[in-house]
Amino acid sequence: MAKLVIFFLFKLFLLCSLPRSNAVYNILNYGAKADGQTDSAQPLLKAWAAACHSSSPATIHVPAGSFLLSQAIFNGPCKNTEIKFSIEGTIISPSYYGKLGDSREWIAFNNVEGVTIRGGNLDGRGGALWTCKFDGRSCPTGAISLTFSNSKNIMIDGVTSINSELFHIAIVGCQGVRIQGVYILASGNSPNTDGIHVQMSTGVSIVRANIKTGDDCISVGPGTSHLWIERVFCGPGHGISIGSLGKLGDGLQVKGVQNVTAKSVMFADTQNGFRIKTWGTNARGYVKGVAFANAMMRNVQNPIIIDQNYCPGNQNCPGQNSGIEISRVNYKNIRGTSATKVAVNFDCSPSNPCNGIRLKDIKLTYQNRQAWSYCKHAYGIATGFVIPTSCL
Ligand SMILES: *[C@@H]1O[C@H](CO)[C@@H](O)[C@H](O)[C@H]1NC(C)=O
Repeated sequence: MAKLVIFFLFKLFLLCSLPRSNAVYNILNYGAKADGQTDSAQPLLKAWAAACHSSSPATIHVPAGSFLLSQAIFNGPCKNTEIKFSIEGTIISPSYYGKLGDSREWIAFNNVEGVTIRGGNLDGRGGALWTCKFDGRSCPTGAISLTFSNSKNIMIDGVTSINSELFHIAIVGCQGVRIQGVYILASGNSPNTDGIHVQMSTGVSIVRANIKTGDDCISVGPGTSHLWIERVFCGPGHGISIGSLGKLGDGLQVKGVQNVTAKSVMFADTQNGFRIKTWGTNARGYVKGVAFANAMMRNVQNPIIIDQNYCPGNQNCPGQNSGIEISRVNYKNIRGTSATKVAVNFDCSPSNPCNGIRLKDIKLTYQNRQAWSYCKHAYGIATGFVIPTSCL
């Protein structure tokens, strides 16, 4: 009892002696205007500098309204490990895509720790750039709407991203990232507008995301480990994709992907469901320890697919023989409809067959008819009911 009392007194002492004042930096006080025309780059960067140099928790507030932003790169390291952006309004990118050009980043954080982004709309206004790309004119690459690189303990909560020029959100070289309640929206035929891209990162979780876009809903690049994906709606889009790994020109050694879980996912009218994709090149690496579970597919072209022979245009992929080893991939409780005859497709590498594939409780049909499985260099087991019949 005495111990308990002392413990509480101690806590009280901590609370009283270390008041964690939460300073609020409203960007209007730094010259921002909610008129959709005045560039808020300087106001945002000034508010950031103030928050970054302070050692008590800071909130950067973007009130309601429309804020034009040319580009903002928020660099650390900061003294502060508790910086929150609370966004009520919409941040819009320059209307002319040439402004961001090949810069690849619109809003980016580099080398920061303990940053939260809560709420708000990010409007990348990518439409004109997509049209340029469709027309085959010479166009700039464009910019990812929101990037975190080399950062730690990041939270992206309740953010809406629409019409990004390139990816909507990219997480690169980070540790401990939680992305929750995000809404991502771009046209189903917009090029390279991946919803969330994760690469060279560990301990990333993506929960409760609603993603409608033109490329992968979630794409997983090299060097990703301990990734958790749960309760995602995907469609239109290209599904949840590990890869492509071993891209021609990316070197002979690829950082591996391991321990990826994706569960409770709904795919509607997507190109793929769960996909693992490697180039048909001799780059070496691995994908191991993947769990895909509890998914509903509606009219999905390739509900379950491993493609180790990716070689766009069939150009210069030496030997068409992937050096990426794929092992321990679990598919469990996946149901629904395939938009093509082959619902389960394991097209693995002759020199590195897929090993330890497990299928359990699968039911995929093709227009109320029987669907098919295709296996090439793929080994593993099927248990429970598996429709279409496993070819492992
Ligand atoms: C796999 O990753 C999850 C987080 O997604 C983590 O909780 C778990 O401990 C990891 N498992 C292993 C074996 O590292």
